[in-house]
Amino acid sequence: MEILFVAAEAAPLAKVGGMGDVVGSLPKVLRSMGHDVRIFMPYYGFLPDKVDISAEPVWQGTAMFNDFAVYETTLPGSDVPVYLLGHPAFDPRKVYGGDDEAWRFTFFANGAAEFAWNYWKPQIIHCHDWHTGMIPVWMQQSPDIRTVFTIHNLAYQGPWRWELERITWCPWYMQGNNTMAAAVQSADRVNTVSPTYAQQIKTPDYGEDLEGLLSFISGKLTGILNGIDVESYDPATDKYIAKNFTPDSLENRRVNKVAIQEELGLEVNSKAFVVGLVGRLVEQKGLDLILQILDRFLSYTDAQFILLGTGDRYYETQLWQMASRYRGRMATYLLYSEGLGRRIYAGADAFLMPSRFEPCGISQMIAMRYGCIPVVRRTGGLVDTVQHHDPEHQAGTGYCFDRYEPLDLFTCLIRAWEGYHFKDAWRALQRRAMGQDFSWDKSAVDYVKLYSEMLGLDYRDQLPKPELAPALASPVTQASPPSSRSNQSPPSK
Ligand code: GLC
Repeated sequence: MEILFVAAEAAPLAKVGGMGDVVGSLPKVLRSMGHDVRIFMPYYGFLPDKVDISAEPVWQGTAMFNDFAVYETTLPGSDVPVYLLGHPAFDPRKVYGGDDEAWRFTFFANGAAEFAWNYWKPQIIHCHDWHTGMIPVWMQQSPDIRTVFTIHNLAYQGPWRWELERITWCPWYMQGNNTMAAAVQSADRVNTVSPTYAQQIKTPDYGEDLEGLLSFISGKLTGILNGIDVESYDPATDKYIAKNFTPDSLENRRVNKVAIQEELGLEVNSKAFVVGLVGRLVEQKGLDLILQILDRFLSYTDAQFILLGTGDRYYETQLWQMASRYRGRMATYLLYSEGLGRRIYAGADAFLMPSRFEPCGISQMIAMRYGCIPVVRRTGGLVDTVQHHDPEHQAGTGYCFDRYEPLDLFTCLIRAWEGYHFKDAWRALQRRAMGQDFSWDKSAVDYVKLYSEMLGLDYRDQLPKPELAPALASPVTQASPPSSRSNQSPPSK
């Protein structure tokens, strides 16, 4: 099958949140299964620092009265072609923000539609979040191109219709009051990134005012759990961490704990219970709960707390102030760092994720893979990935609480802190967490099923044949020419 992923992020080229991880890893897996998957994203000003990009555009087009040029590169460490929409609006060294954000990404979506109509025509366009939400609307005039719309974040719904009418053309048949609503109505299939969240968004608590619409279209709505790149996130081989380890050499984690304590200026004490948090510092992530209990938690225990991430100024300031009160016990790093993030997963004992809502959540899966025990609120994808620790039956992979209340989080953290002191049971818990399969293997098959259904194909024919597997595994390094299905030849440069 020929599938074009369109998104604002694709790790490692551009990553702000978990969506970047998904768009940067799922295409690789689908490609290794024999499908022609390519990515279309903006040509951000910082990209030339990260990757080699064709000097000449492969195609040029016009959208919303603006000319743009499309350049080509490949996703690092793979043969996935990546097309980059170049236009001065994307020259700044940032992904989101700015006064022109609504215009910028609507233009990007229009550019992607033009690209699919005129240069490489896929069978399916797989759109991600509101930035690409107008594509399913426009593709209604091209029934031979199907669309899937994946919701990673329902809270951001894109420009309202009146603004869309001002900045571009809304076709007469467009339904929905904002970009997200329009995408949900027009896409052939809608999915979100975990089964539990797919149910929750049909209710007022989680629907962000779209619950009525999402219930109405529930026949075409599914939940497919995200995976993680288990090759890259592997504590046995990770180059960023002080000492590699496996479930059988968990004692090596001690070295990583001491190393992270030294690196971040915490008291060096391999016995202390170290809690980590890596992520966007936004309301979704439950930071208000953390701020309400952290003081008490640090004063009643010997625990240490490490926080890495950027986000809302309010949370950044509060957490920073808290860290200055607990010197040597709390470290706050208000930045994004891949290496430091991995060292936290490898050295911390527990990982905090008390989310208000969580479509899937990636960090808790990475944490478990590194033997760092998640402490999570039971919501969305956290329900589907973390099972509450049951010491009596030696079951479970983390600590969970239900209600979004400080007391519930506090109790849960205390239980984890206490559990940590029962060394054997804790080791067993770590081994169970590390033994989970968070690879893309299962979910990629679910996506193949979804795409196959849309195209009226038998999905079994779309899965790699075992006897072909060695051939599929061999790397293909050539740049991919437009497929034979393209009904128009690319314009000359
Ligand atoms: C968003 C969601 C997160 C999800 C990610 C990837 O960042 O908040 O829960 O895991 O997208 O789908």
